[in-house]
Amino acid sequence: MVKQPYTQRKAMIDTMVEKKRLGNSDILVSAIGLGCMGLSEFYGKPVTESAGCRLIHRALELGVNFFDTADMYGSGHNEQLLASALKDRRGEAVIATKFGIVRKKGEYSREICGTPAYVRAACDASLLRLKTDYIDLYYIHRVDASIPIEETIGEMARLVQEGKVKGIGISEPSLATVKRAHAEHPLSAIQSEYSMLTRDPEAGMLSLAAELGISFVPYSPICRGLLSASTHKKGVAEDFRNSLPRFQGEAYENNRVIAQRLSDIATQKGCSLAQLSLAWVMAQGEAIIPIPGTTKIENLEANTGAAQIAITEDELIEIASILSQYRVQGERYTPEGMKGVDV
Ligand code: ATR
Repeated sequence: MVKQPYTQRKAMIDTMVEKKRLGNSDILVSAIGLGCMGLSEFYGKPVTESAGCRLIHRALELGVNFFDTADMYGSGHNEQLLASALKDRRGEAVIATKFGIVRKKGEYSREICGTPAYVRAACDASLLRLKTDYIDLYYIHRVDASIPIEETIGEMARLVQEGKVKGIGISEPSLATVKRAHAEHPLSAIQSEYSMLTRDPEAGMLSLAAELGISFVPYSPICRGLLSASTHKKGVAEDFRNSLPRFQGEAYENNRVIAQRLSDIATQKGCSLAQLSLAWVMAQGEAIIPIPGTTKIENLEANTGAAQIAITEDELIEIASILSQYRVQGERYTPEGMKGVDV
């Protein structure tokens, strides 16, 4: 699809977003997906079932069919919400879910598990919650470093043979893990945090994914709201961003200055900072499919519209120049949150 200038975007908001082939598969996904996590946990209280269903139905209307969830989001609440929204529309959706982060209900602390027995049990539990007999894309949420990756992938490959899973992915893998896993069974997606403020995947992961034909799925492409007008809810216990180093004190003030500089470019361009953030991520590679999260229909519409915003070479250079003038302060997770991030 030829990208339109933003001035024409508003008129096109109800046109369907283009589809892309998910890596090493026949699955067609929208060029921008929907991260569903925030509907259940982490950025505030869970939304009501009716509000969640309205949002998911609006996504489908806009052509957004790629829904990202995980078994641990709200201890199953997120998968159940998707099941409810997709009750009569399963065939219209591509469901990506994940296993491997084991938490007690309501607690942030976690263990990582990728043993074959656990993989199978987690898959069956997700299928039950999702009220479906197949998962389109099944991710290892975090890599279990205590066993060879081949054991985890081997069991996932058996789930593919049995028809319970269509494609396999890994979240936050290292380069070495991707190579070993892909040799065991072709990967369809790698999901890691990636945005103008989190550039780690540029150190080899984006190019490796492209070389192996694996889609790269950036989560937190708006840097959890830091690259938007909305950011976090200070003092709200359910908003876990209050515990993240990037959202605290001087680090936060510093990071908001960067966001403001980028926001000036968005204003010149006639789009929002969140939209610029998504368009920038998509401009980094053909096979990059971001999954911004939102609880609001107006933000979903704006984010979907970002698929039609082209960034010029001059704008990319201007953004690169701003980013080179600053250092993002504060780690992206606490040490607990870094468990299983495979480096
Ligand atoms: P994640 O992948 O972790 O969900 P993200 O997509 O980078 O993170 O950012 C999600 C945050 O950005 C949410 O707090 C969301 O808030 P709402 O639920 O209020 O929308 C916010 N967000 C997403 N899209 C936005 C937009 N277009 N404008 C402003 N804020 C937005």
